[in-house]
Amino acid sequence: MSLEQAFQSLPPDAAEAVVESIFSKPFLNALGFSDEEIVPKFGIGKWAVDQAARKNTGDDIFLHTQNDPYLYMEVKGRPANLSGEMYPDHRDTVLQLKRYLLAPSSKSVKWGLIMNSLHVQLFRKHGKIVHPVTSCLSLEGNLKQVVKLLRQHIGSPPKALTIALYNNKGGVGKTTTTINLAATLTLYKKKVLVIDFDHNQSDLGDALNLSPLKNKVLGVLKGKSANIRDIITPYKLEHPSLKEPLGFDVITADDAFSGELDEAKLRQIVKLHDLHKALESLKNDYDYILIDSPPNWRLFAQKAIYAADVVLIPARHDNLHSLQNASTAITQFIPAMREKRRAVQESGPIVLPIFMNNTPTRSAPFQVALMHNAIKKIIVKSKSETGFDLTHYFYPKYCKGQKNLDMVSVPYMAYIPRADFMHMPAAFAFKPAREQYQNLVKEYFL
Ligand SMILES: Nc1ncnc2c1ncn2[C@@H]1O[C@H](COP(=O)(O)OP(=O)(O)OP(=O)(O)O)[C@@H](O)[C@H]1O
Ligand SMILES: [Mg+2]
Repeated sequence: MSLEQAFQSLPPDAAEAVVESIFSKPFLNALGFSDEEIVPKFGIGKWAVDQAARKNTGDDIFLHTQNDPYLYMEVKGRPANLSGEMYPDHRDTVLQLKRYLLAPSSKSVKWGLIMNSLHVQLFRKHGKIVHPVTSCLSLEGNLKQVVKLLRQHIGSPPKALTIALYNNKGGVGKTTTTINLAATLTLYKKKVLVIDFDHNQSDLGDALNLSPLKNKVLGVLKGKSANIRDIITPYKLEHPSLKEPLGFDVITADDAFSGELDEAKLRQIVKLHDLHKALESLKNDYDYILIDSPPNWRLFAQKAIYAADVVLIPARHDNLHSLQNASTAITQFIPAMREKRRAVQESGPIVLPIFMNNTPTRSAPFQVALMHNAIKKIIVKSKSETGFDLTHYFYPKYCKGQKNLDMVSVPYMAYIPRADFMHMPAAFAFKPAREQYQNLVKEYFL
């Protein structure tokens, strides 16, 4: 049966078992997997995902060996609403898929689909991160186009995960964290590119003793005169605390975009999506692309978020505005960029749990209580005004019975600003700082 015939033969309220028996296989066939490359009810520890698929290689027939699955598909019936991210059915199905994708036996899996024969959405797995790649795509009247789009993604998985570091409050540690995450990922043999998109301050280049670019970025963003590879500077450090010289690539800020710029004029020259587009050609050269954003919500910050797969928000326990701004970013700014990318069938970035930078090693109980109190108010306000529950963004381990208030954090360390004066990443120069950033990298990514 062709995919079109299978679609037409489904009753309007087809239950999960009906979608499974009539539509799942033709759908995976259309995505390029033959019958011998598909295993239904694929076991993952104590669970089973509805469908798993992988191309056969030589004698290794996936249906028989069931080794190294490449893609999972979680199937629902038509009554389950998968048409948008705000629906509980969608949320529950994504949580289920995530559980499967992140199970220890799913190491080889790169892609996940949720599908109810009316809508489908594609997710990618990169290390510990699962993020949506497409918006919730409607299949009705669009079968061919959707299949084509999904095949394009699945056939060429990009290597890089793009992370924007953002908080529109200044001085919370965006630049420092960008540099030290890059350095630490390098210690794990990951290939990293760092982009300084805070052209006004160009702190990142300065912290590594790299000069800003002079009128080079505009040509790259416009996709005309320059190749993005031509504006990359390799940064390498030889240091007694390192076993071997280590480094990563950097695109420094551009002097041409510093100073007071006319935002309206700028928007006529450079477009919201152009960084996202410019990075496409680099996505197979790097494991991670990190973008340091400016502390505002103007065009360059928006471009950084638009281009990202995930956003990491540093905040400070002793700075109320950094906590409030984190909430605004999660409930307003980032959804606005997701909306823009939905318009082109893509999905904007997910937000990782906020991390507290600069926390005191010996906690001052009074300040900690103030912080938790402020966060409680922010959570309540957001829930009542927008319906958005921020609890897990602040407290990723929170669950009703236990009310665990652990947060992701990097403590205050004198080594960190000291490394700035030495123009090198603290994670390279000082072992105690390295250990802190290794914890952060493991918490989020590896
Ligand atoms: N965990 C830490 N311990 C001690 N000092 C830190 C820590 N994190 C950052 N700092 C210091 O705090 C200062 C501000 O950090 P940073 O420049 O990274 O913030 P930012 O958010 O990028 O600021 P801006 O918004 O101005 O770009 C720097 O001097 C940096 O060295
Ligand atoms: Mg900065």
